[in-house]
Amino acid sequence: MQRLEWSSLLETGIAEMDASHRTLLQAIHATIDADAGSLPRRIADLLAALAADFAAEEAMMDHLHYPTDHDHRAAHRRALAALQHALPVAQGDVQSARVLLERLPRWFLGHLSAMDLPLAVAFERAAHPHSAPPHACLRVELARLLQEQSI
Ligand SMILES: [Fe+2]
Ligand SMILES: [Fe+2]
Repeated sequence: MQRLEWSSLLETGIAEMDASHRTLLQAIHATIDADAGSLPRRIADLLAALAADFAAEEAMMDHLHYPTDHDHRAAHRRALAALQHALPVAQGDVQSARVLLERLPRWFLGHLSAMDLPLAVAFERAAHPHSAPPHACLRVELARLLQEQSI
């Protein structure tokens, strides 16, 4: 399995979001690399990093008047629920928990390209309505990367 390393290609152009995503990717790797004894603790840390990232993005959505049933919010709820499910599983069946956790890098890349980048672009556009968002082209790059990466 190829490891998804942080790179400028993953940046959205919103500094706070990029810092949060970098932390999130580190927490994902720490969870995947954890031994059985530390796995529940790492999953709890990852849940906290995810919850913080989602809360910050949902504050941006509130600012932009995204509807409360928007797909992006629903995707956050599903991801948190899946990981909350992994926590008790990790205490009894480490292998099953690992199967779920190893899907996280691909989930992260997919969520970033399909949900977080459009949010970042909308946020930039609201702040600078008369200039083209400089990071919109990254959506195309990320979609291509997602196709090419076999993670
Ligand atoms: Fe995010
Ligand atoms: Fe998101």
